[in-house]
Amino acid sequence: MAKFFILIFPMEPRKVHIKNFGCQMNKLDSSLLGSALEDAGFILSTKAADADAVLINTCSVRGHAEERVFSHLGHLKHIKETRPQIVVAVIGCMAQRLGAELLEHDAVDIVAGPSQIPQIPEMVIQTLQSRKKALSVTEKIRSKNTEAQSKALDDFEFTYDTDKNHIPGQAFVRVMRGCNNFCTYCIVPYVRGPEISRPPQTIIEQIKKLAEKGIRQVTLLGQTVNSYVYNAGDRSYRLADLLEMTSNIDGIKWVRFITSHPKHFDDSILRAMAQLSEVCEYLHIPAQSGSDRILKAMNRGYTGDEYLALLAEARKIVPGIAIAGDFIVGFPGETDDDFQATVDLVKKARFKNCFVFKYSPRPGTGADNKLKDDIPEEIKKQRNARLLDLQNRISDEDNKRFAGQTVEVLAEGPSKKPHLNKAEHENNPQLIGRTATDYIVVFNGPKSLAGQFAKVRITKTAPVTLFGSLL
Ligand code: 5AD
Ligand code: SF4
Repeated sequence: MAKFFILIFPMEPRKVHIKNFGCQMNKLDSSLLGSALEDAGFILSTKAADADAVLINTCSVRGHAEERVFSHLGHLKHIKETRPQIVVAVIGCMAQRLGAELLEHDAVDIVAGPSQIPQIPEMVIQTLQSRKKALSVTEKIRSKNTEAQSKALDDFEFTYDTDKNHIPGQAFVRVMRGCNNFCTYCIVPYVRGPEISRPPQTIIEQIKKLAEKGIRQVTLLGQTVNSYVYNAGDRSYRLADLLEMTSNIDGIKWVRFITSHPKHFDDSILRAMAQLSEVCEYLHIPAQSGSDRILKAMNRGYTGDEYLALLAEARKIVPGIAIAGDFIVGFPGETDDDFQATVDLVKKARFKNCFVFKYSPRPGTGADNKLKDDIPEEIKKQRNARLLDLQNRISDEDNKRFAGQTVEVLAEGPSKKPHLNKAEHENNPQLIGRTATDYIVVFNGPKSLAGQFAKVRITKTAPVTLFGSLL
């Protein structure tokens, strides 16, 4: 495979700093870009202050994520007062959403959207030389990429995907881009474009390459990963096919996929999970609300009962499956009764964990166009806290069953908050690992275990963490 950029700097190698906001998709884009920029002769730097170029990969999913980016840009503007030669690129979802408006910000030199990722290294190189501001976003975001654009994105992904991930032994592989669901609160379809599934051959070749470099777990990524579909001749490939093909790759021990949509969730995925030992028994499947009225206003395409029936089916086909959910509280018009329906659903669902978000109006979305953001912030906060508190109690109760059990984990590395003194932390640090079912396990062991599988006996449980000793 030909590399994209061959540019050797005449002087000192330039330093680039990449700051990531947002989801796994963004983390993956940042990691691809890091590897492409290294290939083009840059050195990756952990600090913005001494970098020649700073890339900020942004998220638009909630207003708060955008506010954090603006505050970071304020910080960069300050750095630029003493080092005006720094090139600052704002990339990702916010770049696509705000386009030229962002380029007007004093600190910003480059604005490029998620579909322009392959062009970004070249844009950075150009701007470092010319000092001219540059904008590259997709004009008509809802029209399908041309073949050439899709191929460029695919080739970029294939070439620069790397085992040098932030978690040893693990890699994330995009299987599809975009989203066609238009949940009324959500900005994603307007910034990431229509759903496009990548060819299975490329995905599998990419995973083989990663496995050869020592990757043991892959996570297949898609905004609605269960709607993956790729037609080749008279054959149609679905997510279950990808799971099977990935499981057959030498070296791959665990495969997961995020995120699923409850609408049209197909049993073949659950059967693959039950039959293939490599497919982790974990499902992240956002419910968003338990109220049928709100689910309809959100355009989710299912009722609370249908969602619960899907969980029951999943538990029947895959005993021991762990399920995680997302919820939005304070959607326009959410009454106490609507919220109570969400509470009731959470009680029945017995999730492993839940992510709860306060509704944030996103410009241009269906909900923002038609509905007033009428739930006071205080009520949103209360509902958020109540739901998390309930889930905490459920997790606390359910996790107790792990006490005394032995679980297999894939070790990630030293815990960020070690409760040990420095010497102990060096010799026998506290490590973090995850089970196939995505439970976080904390135990002591050598640092060299990062990226390896290990057996841990659980000695203590808490709502979000299990504690144990290495066998
Ligand atoms: N406000 C609050 N939360 C949102 N999410 C998506 N859009 C919004 C919004 N406008 C949440 C959903 C989704 C998760 C990634 O973010 O719960 O599943
Ligand atoms: Fe957003 Fe809905 Fe698509 Fe998920 S499925 S990315 S919530 S529009």
